[in-house]
Amino acid sequence: MTNYDAILHIYQKLHISAFLKVLFLKFLIDNKTYIILTMIKFINLNKAVPYLILKEKYEEAIVAGQNNIEAISISSYSNKMNEVDSRYVNLKFISNDEFIFFSNYESPKAAAFNSHNQVAALIYWPSTNMQIRMKAKIKKTSDEFNQQYFFDRSEEKNALAISSNQSNEIVSYNQVKENYNKSLKNDDLKKCPEYWGGYSFTPYYFEFWEGHESRINKREVFQKIDGIWKQSILQP
Ligand SMILES: Cc1cc2nc3c(=O)[nH]c(=O)nc-3n(C[C@H](O)[C@H](O)[C@H](O)COP(=O)(O)O)c2cc1C
Repeated sequence: MTNYDAILHIYQKLHISAFLKVLFLKFLIDNKTYIILTMIKFINLNKAVPYLILKEKYEEAIVAGQNNIEAISISSYSNKMNEVDSRYVNLKFISNDEFIFFSNYESPKAAAFNSHNQVAALIYWPSTNMQIRMKAKIKKTSDEFNQQYFFDRSEEKNALAISSNQSNEIVSYNQVKENYNKSLKNDDLKKCPEYWGGYSFTPYYFEFWEGHESRINKREVFQKIDGIWKQSILQP
């Protein structure tokens, strides 16, 4: 059992009210364990209503014991391939209004973002039956930010980022492991290579879909028009 599993296990076994669980969560936030427990780090969160709802729904999903809470699907369109594609990534930060994840800058997703910078992002938390749909423009984070983030990561993770030519074909899985071990031994594991780093997207559209047993599901949309968030309700 990892630290994360152990803490989550204790947390789920707590026979206390949801209110007390949130208090416990706040305690964890203050004591950094929150980062182990939840993965997404909120920094100076934007004060606009959709961001406050997002944070509230996130905390509800934690209280409900949601695993892999940081998994988010990113859909992109490639002009070159004339094709739409999706993949999950781990959302690491929500910094003010920016959602940040990390990837390989030479991967198929990177080529798609280069050719068409509009993406759709999707979260589903089964523990609370909550779907969050977003539309956004995506861009790379700065080299300085990437270097700092890479420096703070474990050398094992960095070796994989350095050694993997992401999504390119390779002769065998063994070769993947060999490349990884070579990198672990020989590379500077604190220096972020230029082909790896963060992506940041700032949504201009949010839809919060909340499933209800009655099937009378609640759908609340926020759309940014001329700098102002317009709120509306959609039929289920
Ligand atoms: C839950 C989950 C989280 C993932 N997180 C990341 C991530 O943070 N960054 C990343 O590059 N790939 C991540 N992956 C792998 C991607 O889904 C994908 O396989 C990879 O990025 C290659 O995508 P591409 O060929 O579209 O560029 C994750 C996969 C899963 C299932």
